[in-house]
This record gives sequence, structure tokens and C-alpha cells, in this order.
Amino acid sequence: MSSLAESANAAVLPRVPIPANGVNYRGKIVLAPMVRSGELPSRLLALKYGADLVWGPETIDRSIIGCERRVNPRNGTIEFSRFPSNGGRPDVVSKASIIYRLDPVREKGRLIFQMGTASPELAVQAAKVVAGDVSGIDVNSGCPKPFSTSGGMGAALLRTPDKLVSILEALVREVGQPFQIGISVKIRILETPEKTEALVSRLVRTGITGLTVHCRTTPMRPRERAIRDQLRMIADVCRKAGVACVMNGDVTSRDQGLALMKEYGVDGAMIATAAEANSSCFRAKADGGLAPWRDVVHEYLRFCIESENRLGNTKYLLNMLIPGKNQEFKDAKLSRTYTDACRRLKFDDLVPLAVQVDEILELDHKWELGPPEGHTRTKAVQNAIENNESAKAAGGGSTRSKVTSPATHNGGPIRTSSIPAPVKNETEQNTLDPSIPAPMPQKSEITA
Ligand SMILES: Cc1cc2nc3c(=O)[nH]c(=O)nc-3n(C[C@H](O)[C@H](O)[C@H](O)COP(=O)(O)O)c2cc1C
Repeated sequence: MSSLAESANAAVLPRVPIPANGVNYRGKIVLAPMVRSGELPSRLLALKYGADLVWGPETIDRSIIGCERRVNPRNGTIEFSRFPSNGGRPDVVSKASIIYRLDPVREKGRLIFQMGTASPELAVQAAKVVAGDVSGIDVNSGCPKPFSTSGGMGAALLRTPDKLVSILEALVREVGQPFQIGISVKIRILETPEKTEALVSRLVRTGITGLTVHCRTTPMRPRERAIRDQLRMIADVCRKAGVACVMNGDVTSRDQGLALMKEYGVDGAMIATAAEANSSCFRAKADGGLAPWRDVVHEYLRFCIESENRLGNTKYLLNMLIPGKNQEFKDAKLSRTYTDACRRLKFDDLVPLAVQVDEILELDHKWELGPPEGHTRTKAVQNAIENNESAKAAGGGSTRSKVTSPATHNGGPIRTSSIPAPVKNETEQNTLDPSIPAPMPQKSEITA
């Protein structure tokens, strides 16, 4: 189509308005939602290498409902956490689990929260917990795993379109509009173009701003090649309704994604497994293209340490990122502490931070070579441990501690100079006070 025809077309076609705190998916190459592989450090890694937007891992509605929101005083991240029930035994000490973690500075305007749900009411309740901190809520309607489909979630929603429509409409009305963020859905193709068209035609009338289509049917295995022959039709239905259409399935790089967007007339492209293997796939060839895996792993470990990521999760993605035939790298994957992983990979610059985070995460007793020479526990670490202790002593009631100042050690806060200072505006300060709920976004004008 000529650019003249394109602009004439654009002038007459409708567009679902992008809410003031939402994002437009058009022209974007984005990181896919990935359970385990889509935690905060990998999202920061993708953003570092040029991803325009990042989807968080699917989080089930019931697991985020009732979570406490708190700002981690050491790194400024926002943590949504909960305590296990303890079976009603106050004598049993339980530890808070962090269900979702985000970076309000580096992910600002770029994070989409993806939810697993089969109920409009629970979807709305869950979305409200995070809505003030994210740019959009996406409903997973493509997960084929029995744990998801057996509860009516994920790909099961493709077979219950009335329910899916009512979830999306409830989210648009009760979360999208008041919080001024976008609501979107991620689907798979159905077995015939007619069936897919009928479904998509309903979904785009719910008020959603975006629809991602994974170009595989529900029974297809991840290794089977994506099928793109329904894509033009889906993009067309979306375009006529003014909804952005993002393609997914076998997109392997920014450059390829942009070419596919042009070829199929879609608005954006989403990358999953290629980003798991090397997140620098988001970097255009003209800007350097794929980075050597060692550079990527260094950055990944730095983000993991800075965000105090759970070591088990860190190692999961290390396994993907490190090709590792070499013994040194095999050992690194087996490390039981951040300090040992950094030492084995010869990332000496990361060791001082790794030491502190091992202490905060209480991994330091696993150091293979003992404490580094001249090591003493810093004030920041001591504060963090005391906070953990007092939360435990309280019987696991609440993790939210009233923080009056960032924890510091001899030389200043734990966050490295590469992490922007925590947001110190009024809203953020209020969030440190447990009596004040998560911020509601400012109502502002809707932009087209
Ligand atoms: C480890 C892993 C976890 C995934 N978790 C999710 C998820 O939480 N939500 C979702 O909608 N899709 C999930 N997916 C599917 C991807 O988002 C994507 O649709 C699929 O991998 C196809 O994209 P690709 O061909 O680029 O890999 C996951 C995929 C992988 C590999």
C-alpha cells in the first residue's frame, strides 16, 4: 500500500483510545510472557537490549489477590508478597514469598502484567492489586497446560468465548478505565480461519487496546513451526476495530520481527524462546545485533543480584543463556550462592554486591570458599536481616515494614550507580506507609 493510501486509510479507521497510563503496542518488538523466564531480571535484560515493552510471567488471579505491596528499600523495586497460611499455627515461622516484583523506574511505561483467570470477579480483584504500577493487564488465553486449562483458564477460554468476553469487558470497565491502563488478550489460532475470525471479531469489541496472537493451535508443540496463514486476516479484523495486533511464534530478532510486521500487516511482534536463549535478540543488527553470551550473562547476573532474585530462578535462566560445554560454566550453573557463581564466571566486579545479596537471602552459609577476605557484615545487610527477623517473629503476619530511610552500608545504599535512585515523589513515599494503599493513577486525558 502506498503511504498516501495508508494515511488515508488511517484517517478513516477507528482506534480504541490508548489510556493515559497505558501504552500503544504499535510498532513495538516485545518480550513475551514467560513463567520462570520472565521474572524481573530477564525483563530488565530484554529492556537493556532494546525490547520496547515487556510482559511479566502469567500470574494466577488468586495468587496476587491479598498480596502486600511494599517498596524494597535497598533497590527501589516493588514487591507483592504473601505469607503461607501456616495452617493457623502461630508457633510455625513462615517466610513471605514474593509473588511479583517490578521496577517502577526502569519498567515505567513498559510493563504489562499478564494474568491467568477464569472469572471476571477474580480478574478484576487481582488486576486492582497491581494496576497502579503497570501499563497494562493482559489475559492469558493461550496456555495449553492442564494446570491452566483444567481450571478453565488459558487456552480453555478459547472454547468459552462468552466467559472470555465477560472477563475482558469487566477488566476494561472496572480496571482499565479507572486506572487509565490498557487491557489486552493473548490467544492462539483456532483450527480454521473461520473459527479464529469469529472469536477475534468478538474480542476486539470488548474495549481492549491490543490482541496478541500466538500462531500455533492449542495442541501444537512449541517446536512445531508457527502457522502464519491466518495472520493477515486477524490483523485485518483488529485494524478495522482499531485494536493493535501483535504477532507471536518463531520471531527470533528485532529485524526479523519488523520485516514480518510489514509482510503480514501486523502492528507488533513478540519474542519468547529466542529471548530466553539470548536477550540481545532485541538489538537491531545496525546497533550491534546479537551480543556474545558472556556479556549477556554478566548483565543478567548483575540484574539478578541487584533485584535480589531468588537464586533457583536465576539458575533456571542461566541454564538457557550459558551454552556451557566448558567445566567452569557447568560449575557456575551449579553454584549455591551468587558469590560462588560470580567467582566461577570470573565476574569479579560483581562479587562485592553478590556477597551482600547472599547475606540478605541467607545463602552466605553456603559459600564454598568462606567469606571473602576482610569481609564484615554491612549495615544494609544487618538492617535487611533484622527486618526479616522481625517479620518472622511477628508470626508471619505482614512483610510490610515502615521504612524511614533507605538502608545504607559504609559507602551508601546497596543499589549500584547503574540503578536510578528510588522514586521519591509523594505517591511513592506514601507507599512506604502500610496504612496507605497502592497509588491510584492520576486521571488524565485519554490520548488517541
Ligand atoms: C518458558 C516459557 C514460559 C511461558 N510462559 C507463558 C506465560 O506465562 N504466558 C503466556 O501467555 N505464554 C507463555 N509462554 C508462551 C510464549 O509466551 C510464546 O507464546 C511461545 O513461546 C511462542 O513464542 P516463540 O515462538 O517466540 O517461543 C511461555 C513459553 C515459554 C518457553
